[in-house]
Amino acid sequence: VPTFPVYSQEEVAKHRTLADGVWVTYKGGVYDITDFVAVHPGGDKILLAAGGALEPFWALYAVHNQEHVLEILSGYKVGEL
Ligand code: HEM
Repeated sequence: VPTFPVYSQEEVAKHRTLADGVWVTYKGGVYDITDFVAVHPGGDKILLAAGGALEPFWALYAVHNQEHVLEILSGYKVGEL
């Protein structure tokens, strides 16, 4: 079973630009999505969530409520909150 490092919300919030890396959280997981930003089907809107939680945005954009989207996200996991 892989274990991930634990990060604080404050540490996640330091990663909100392509230069510093783009991190987001989802259900207690921390994800470094820097390499996904350029290929996101929804374009730069993804940066609105940079440094914080995906949940409020995915509640608005229900297109993410699909198994294949969670599979993509899981590939970028770097830690736990
Ligand atoms: C579409 C992934 C974050 C806005 C999509 C699609 C994927 C995806 C796979 C295409 C879904 C499909 O058509 O089957 C992700 C991932 C995210 C993320 C992995 C976070 C790591 C966001 C955020 C926003 C957003 C934060 C808005 C603030 C959109 C929009 C579309 C979309 C508007 C529809 C694009 C279109 O069809 O024209 N996203 N997304 N996404 N995403 Fe995201």
